[in-house]
Amino acid sequence: MSDALLHGFSFPSKGESDYINIVSAKDCTLIDNRGKQYIDGMASLWLCQIGHANATVVNAIKTQLDQLQTYNTFDPFTNTPASEAADAIRKVSPHPHGRVFLGCSGSEAVDSALKFARLFHQRRGDHERQIIIRRTSGYHGVNVGGTSVQGIEANRIGWGDLLPHVIEIPNDDIEEAATLFAKHGSQIAGVICEPVQGAGGVIMPPDGYLAGLRRLCDQHGSLLIFDEVICGFGRTGQWFASQTFDVTPDMLTFAKGVTSGYVPLSGVILSEELANELTDDETVKLMHGYTYSGHPTASAAAIANLEVIENEALVARSRHIGQKMESGFAALLGDGTIESYRGIGGIWACEIGEDSIAARNNMIDKGVVCRGIGQALAFCPPLIISDSEIGTIFDTLSEVLEAR
Ligand SMILES: Cc1ncc(COP(=O)(O)O)c(C=O)c1O
Repeated sequence: MSDALLHGFSFPSKGESDYINIVSAKDCTLIDNRGKQYIDGMASLWLCQIGHANATVVNAIKTQLDQLQTYNTFDPFTNTPASEAADAIRKVSPHPHGRVFLGCSGSEAVDSALKFARLFHQRRGDHERQIIIRRTSGYHGVNVGGTSVQGIEANRIGWGDLLPHVIEIPNDDIEEAATLFAKHGSQIAGVICEPVQGAGGVIMPPDGYLAGLRRLCDQHGSLLIFDEVICGFGRTGQWFASQTFDVTPDMLTFAKGVTSGYVPLSGVILSEELANELTDDETVKLMHGYTYSGHPTASAAAIANLEVIENEALVARSRHIGQKMESGFAALLGDGTIESYRGIGGIWACEIGEDSIAARNNMIDKGVVCRGIGQALAFCPPLIISDSEIGTIFDTLSEVLEAR
């Protein structure tokens, strides 16, 4: 195979033929070029809520391609799929009367939200408010903004200078956050926070932590941004994790599950209050937007995907998956196979007490895709996963861990 492709988050020296070459997929099953089958225990990269090859979404995409494959949404243009997708997304969000900005990737959504956070303060004349607070172990994509505000150090080093005005807080200590706000409150533009940290290792927020951040932002005039790129669209048992944890941010970023990845789409949901500030002065233009903002084919995929999530009751299904996963992990903990576990709905991880890459490889060899993060194995299956497939995941996990 050609070595032209440079893989992300991979060793550039690895040969193309040493990768697992996925050639097709249906529901929760992946098939590689040798015909080997796998359960997709990671929904690709935390994203395929409805499973693979869903005919409703595939057909919606095909129909849209025949009608209008793409057109931009910069002034003076719009298209109906983009407008309807934005409306469908806000309706299920904590800001049903807010506005929705669209992009392609989670990284674009994050960088847009960071720019918006500063924009609001600049427009209010609060020019000193530029600090963005990040949390340890947070992951916010790989654009310059998202790289700067992520709390995974290995992803930040080696690129030269990143954004200034970024301060890190521990991801589990609201008192430390309060101390920082007491010192810099008048300069803090916003806090960016994944309600459940995904790439950092499926780290749950301590009780009251998210509400504490909300309180601090309110007290000090800062904006709270929830990065729901993984958490959104049913993953934590409600449409958004903001609803699961009952804390409403000023802005939410989303991507992945909005189309289940069939076509890339992402965005930022702005509260009604922030959205109103954007329309206060009719002469001020929003000087931000991507060529593919409001891409009609991606938007058609989103509309159909949200319908599938709704019609197949996948948000409720996520809570059921959570119960099954929890009892599977509890059994492994009970017999000493794992050291601990954590998660909610359709996103989980367990600590195995040693670097997890060997176990991850053994899981994949035995036909279950999971993700190794430090000493943890992470699972984030499609929300259509059956009880028997969950059973297979746990049988395989037990077999792999007991063989160590
Ligand atoms: C919370 C979070 N934010 C942002 C991103 C970046 O998304 P993308 O890889 O689509 O740019 C990710 C990707 O995993 C993510 O998990």
